[in-house]
Amino acid sequence: MTQLRSSISESGLTQNPFRENLTSRAAPQPCTLVIFGASGDLTHRKLVPALLNLASDGNLPPGLSMIGFARRAKTDESFRAELLEAAKKFSRRTFDQTLWDSFASSISYHCSEFEDATGYETLRHRIEEIEARQGALGNRLFYLAAAPEQFAPILSHIKSSGLCKSPRGGWSRVIVEKPFGRDLKSAQALNHAVERAFPENETYRIDHYLGKETAQNIMVLRFANAIFEPLWNNRHIDHVQITASETLGVGSRGGYYDTSGALRDMVQNHLFQLLCLTAMEPPVDLSADSVRDEKVKVIRALRPINRANVARDVVRGQYTSGAIDGIDVPAYLEEDRVAPDSKTETFVALRVFVDNWRWADVPFYIRVGKRLPKPGTEIAIHFRSAPPVLFNRLENSGDDNILVIRIQPDEGISLRMQAKLPGTSLRIEPVKMDFRYGTSFGKVGPEAYERLLLDAMSGDATLFARRDEVEHAWEFIDGIEEGWSEPSAPPLHLYPAGAWGPDAADELISATGHCWRRL
Ligand code: BG6
Repeated sequence: MTQLRSSISESGLTQNPFRENLTSRAAPQPCTLVIFGASGDLTHRKLVPALLNLASDGNLPPGLSMIGFARRAKTDESFRAELLEAAKKFSRRTFDQTLWDSFASSISYHCSEFEDATGYETLRHRIEEIEARQGALGNRLFYLAAAPEQFAPILSHIKSSGLCKSPRGGWSRVIVEKPFGRDLKSAQALNHAVERAFPENETYRIDHYLGKETAQNIMVLRFANAIFEPLWNNRHIDHVQITASETLGVGSRGGYYDTSGALRDMVQNHLFQLLCLTAMEPPVDLSADSVRDEKVKVIRALRPINRANVARDVVRGQYTSGAIDGIDVPAYLEEDRVAPDSKTETFVALRVFVDNWRWADVPFYIRVGKRLPKPGTEIAIHFRSAPPVLFNRLENSGDDNILVIRIQPDEGISLRMQAKLPGTSLRIEPVKMDFRYGTSFGKVGPEAYERLLLDAMSGDATLFARRDEVEHAWEFIDGIEEGWSEPSAPPLHLYPAGAWGPDAADELISATGHCWRRL
């Protein structure tokens, strides 16, 4: 029987052996990683730099082979050469040629159309050869990083070519990139396509926000500390603001973004994940399903928004030309591959309610936009005001207590409170207690994709979206999209690049006596 006993670490701090166990997931297992759509941006900017960083930290399982699958004709050598350039540019580490040489020796390229069955047959032979040469276990990890319309054909070919079953045994898993559908119907169709090839427990729907260090810390903050949970409800919290602000425009992604918009691109997935982590009940344990069960309950408790209340609860905007950091930037309508009369929103602000006992009548304000003045993602918990007696009656009494979880940049947590200004008179000023990852731990965490790739290789799906989570989220989003498609739909407001969205977003929040936090 495990003994309930604390031990003293080298640093002299008392450590609880059970806590240590919490941090150790199963070891990532050697596998063949096949990336479909390997000549795309994601592979170059995120996946290969993440794999290289893992290798540099000694976290990559030995015997990992990576095969890039894409349509463009390339040799193994030319593929490696282009990944080398990407690794130099996008890795968070100083480039190390020796490390690269050993990492690159496990990379190869497989050229095929996504619709061509023979391409998958030859891929199967190729993987079997690699597995036989390495005496491998037969584990296979398929990463769908191609255009979303290719997901279903790729899945169907993986299945029919027998790729997801190695003759050597082992597991087969699939990582599916976003966008996971564009509405409930397409998400369900994609889920059916996935389920025909992979069981749910081998399916990893990526939401890179869940891989961010600070997003993972939300549960730790809430459930590893005793002081917050008693206050974490409608008796003590007045409202919550979740903001994701970007200074960037749509860049080279106009073609995709114009068919998506901020609501589908950011709210259905990333912002809802942050909302769920903030609002969920404590799970019974830390297993993937226990955590995801609680997140699903939050989404199911969201008060629907539809044509009846969309005008009151949602504001959408689109940027016109303006300036960011003093540099002139074009309007959304002038961006590459955006329809000149596009009505796609690049900004959205919502007021949502989680209709359960804990959160009844607490508004959650969500705001997300491109070409805003400052980059930053945060969750701000605004506590109720102190009673209007004693100091709160004074004219100079400050603002309310706000707990801010900074997801990025400058990752950390701060608590705003009131303090007496030193001096002979009584003046109260807001002050901040501030925890910063960089200074407290002296190091930055891994990139989101590093953590998520490792989790998929370890078989831990906690930080990936489950089927029902995705479908319930789309159901909610569909209500808003339907409301927007009505002839009587509320207008698309314009805002100049470099402003905090349209004025209507301020009116949305001021209607309840609140105002947006300045980041
Ligand atoms: C992506 C969206 O999922 O997330 C992009 O498609 C957005 O439009 C990006 O810019 C934001 O991610 P991050 O990690 O930079 O906040």
